[in-house]
Amino acid sequence: MPENFEFLETNLDLIPEVTGRIAAILAPDGGLDQVTRRLNKLTKGAVLRVTQDADFHKRKSGEVITLAYPMGVQAKAIDLVVLDKRAERNAARRAGVSLAKLRGNEELLVLAGALRFADSFFQGIALRSYNFLAHKEKKDDSSFGKVTFSHNKMETLKPLLETSVAITEAVFFTRDLVNEPANILTTTTFAERLMDLVPLGLEVEVLDEAELADLGMRALLGVGQGSASPSKVVVMQWNGGAPDQQPFALVGKGVVFDTGGISLKPGAGMQDMTMDMGGAAVVAGTMMALASRKAKANVVGLVGLVENMPSGTAIRPGDVITSMKGDTIEVLNTDAEGRLVLCDVMWYTQERFNPVAMIDLATLTGAIIVGLGHENAGVFSNDDALCDALLGAAKSENEGAWRMPLGAAYNKLLKSRIADMANIGGRPAGSITAAQFLQRFVKDSTPWAHIDIAGVAYIKSDSDHAPAGATGWGVMTLNRLISDQFESP
Ligand code: BES
Ligand code: MN
Ligand code: ZN
Repeated sequence: MPENFEFLETNLDLIPEVTGRIAAILAPDGGLDQVTRRLNKLTKGAVLRVTQDADFHKRKSGEVITLAYPMGVQAKAIDLVVLDKRAERNAARRAGVSLAKLRGNEELLVLAGALRFADSFFQGIALRSYNFLAHKEKKDDSSFGKVTFSHNKMETLKPLLETSVAITEAVFFTRDLVNEPANILTTTTFAERLMDLVPLGLEVEVLDEAELADLGMRALLGVGQGSASPSKVVVMQWNGGAPDQQPFALVGKGVVFDTGGISLKPGAGMQDMTMDMGGAAVVAGTMMALASRKAKANVVGLVGLVENMPSGTAIRPGDVITSMKGDTIEVLNTDAEGRLVLCDVMWYTQERFNPVAMIDLATLTGAIIVGLGHENAGVFSNDDALCDALLGAAKSENEGAWRMPLGAAYNKLLKSRIADMANIGGRPAGSITAAQFLQRFVKDSTPWAHIDIAGVAYIKSDSDHAPAGATGWGVMTLNRLISDQFESP
């Protein structure tokens, strides 16, 4: 991806040569700066016609006005982005997103001038410049043209832009994993892609089925036992903090395909269950972001990789399994598999790392989509401070997140006649009983948050930062949470 971006000091002499599109920042008061003045001159006054239009004052911040095939330049279009040069971060990024939507795949010269949060503006452009082309034989008409991004203070801006690129690449890594079909991204190839992160400085360890059996992860192994792909747990460690600092932990659900198992899902729409490893992908992307920006924190990321298939060896409804913690679980529905994977990985994470805090991410329930749609992830937490910090980080990154309740009263729904608990709680409060199930595997001393991303990880229509398909929701939020809360200054 980086080869698709070039960063330059503002150079107005480039304008006449561009054949794609040119974008510039236009102040909402209509005042011209050095860039827009030059564009106005070259186009024989077209920019002034825009600002002198009687309705110009009605233009909203972030709106883009396009001059199509303007005279005086070779470019196909000049995109005037209405934005105060002192606009807030989020506004700058939203404007970048709008611009990126307009450009399609066209080559783009951005003249950001003196824009304050130019790295956010750039990140908006970069985040939206994504397509999943891995399996298109004809890539030419959908691959992106280069973005040349220029600014008056490029020397000071460049390191910030490079961080934006690193974070965007991590988001794209997550999106690619989520978009990848299940015949390509098996438990084995998923683990291999995580091993590929080692050169960034991450420690990556893959636990195989024999090791998981020795650890007693019978719940996780139960989910994968019907599949030809072997179950795995991958442990990623980023040690950028003080050696004695307890790590912060991320845990992800990595069901590479969820058929429902013997409690088989209906056929219609089942293909979407290729995204059921979204939690694991967000954990992986976040670890990548931390490593590439050399975060001053110790963070562990653990993912449980399994495939939920029906077969002669699959787990049955009614089976009783023993979790690593020792609690027994009656599997009343093999389609409630995510919590079985997470409970063992979460327990293992706490036993091995004694983390300062733990956040798990999972495409856990259809019920969270009923509750929150595709705009917000559902957040459950046993710790107000952690939860507030998480929601705050999500807000700054413009990723929707909404707190949901936990409560002992929901526990009765998880009662089992023959085991310590059942793996489903019936239709009411489906996302809460799932979270309540997970909480049984969280030590009282561990500040914990569970994020149900079933509605936000993968969306059928375009979202703010991403085209249809995988969104990468959460990588930016978690990266910010860690930099704001867990990094030594
Ligand atoms: N992976 C699904 C949840 C899901 C549904 C994710 C739709 C993304 C989109 C999960 O494993 C599941 O099947 N949950 C069941 C739980 C039920 C059996 C208690 C559900 O939500 O229906
Ligand atoms: Mn399921
Ligand atoms: Zn699932």
